[in-house]
Amino acid sequence: AEALRVGIAGLGTVGASVARVLAHKTAELTRQCGRPIEVAAVSARSRGKDRQVDLSAAAWFDDPVALAEQAEIDVFVELIGGDEGPALASVKAALARGRHVVTANKALLSRHGVALAEMAEQKGVLLNYEAAVAGGIPVIKTMREALAGNSVTRVFGILNGTCNYILTRMEAEGISFDDCLKDAQRLGYAEADPTFDIEGHDTAHKLSILTALAFGTRISAGDIYMEGISNISQADIRAAAELGYRIKLLGVAQRTESGIEQRVHPTMVPTASVIAQVHGVTNAVAIETDILGELLLSGPGAGGNATASAVVGDIADIAKSRPGFQHGPVFGWPAKQLKPYKRAL
Ligand code: HSE
Repeated sequence: AEALRVGIAGLGTVGASVARVLAHKTAELTRQCGRPIEVAAVSARSRGKDRQVDLSAAAWFDDPVALAEQAEIDVFVELIGGDEGPALASVKAALARGRHVVTANKALLSRHGVALAEMAEQKGVLLNYEAAVAGGIPVIKTMREALAGNSVTRVFGILNGTCNYILTRMEAEGISFDDCLKDAQRLGYAEADPTFDIEGHDTAHKLSILTALAFGTRISAGDIYMEGISNISQADIRAAAELGYRIKLLGVAQRTESGIEQRVHPTMVPTASVIAQVHGVTNAVAIETDILGELLLSGPGAGGNATASAVVGDIADIAKSRPGFQHGPVFGWPAKQLKPYKRAL
């Protein structure tokens, strides 16, 4: 069968991991998808950098928009980051040309997700974003596919690997906040601007996407009550421990009588609870529904390989999809039917 041609824009921690997985797992992916996946084009800021993968067969583009418009590709994979600029322009360009898109960009979806979903749905192409929420945990597939027919009452969890890594090491090893953050950056967990992690923006971006999937409301990260972990001290962590609690940064979205409530803040959870056992870069998402009951997913939430695993899964889905097949709506509800977000009182 004909190869699925992929163009990757952005070859940082995640992009380079995706390229390596596609190169090393050719046989597995070809068997699973029934056709090969080929990296036909790439773009990145620096061409010379050693990414430990041979990309010489891929066409090089300096400009991701040019890649999205001109490269001979079936799928555009956006791993640039940022909620405007080249990420937004290139995703729009790819969708406008009827190309499938895979992105790990929660900031972009949080701000422009509804408009981009409308474009994808109108063009009949896939916009896949598993890697945008909780890294390698397949929470989007779970909510969009496995939980069909369920009504969600609440979704919450640990959605930022960097913060959970920092809180875990501060508690277990008594290391300072700043040293933990430096390690999280060195390990490739943190955002380019780590303020997004530690002040709660990244958790809010991810939560806003889960809220749309859970409740069919338009994405609205700006309405989220948000407090990060930058003020958490060793003294706070020790005081919580003495009372039998751990501090975790949680994102919570739930249906209330007055509307949908969304919030992000450090939370004291009982040391014996399941969520308190989620350590390090691991994320966890709890979903409560009418039919299934309670579901808890946990797994690696950040880092090159974890994120690449979700991106490659999204690409494989497209490789398996049949041309002309009508895809389900991007956020579970047709983008045009998403309701305005009404903040709970
Ligand atoms: N900076 C993010 C985190 C990366 O630490 O969770 C994954 O989205």
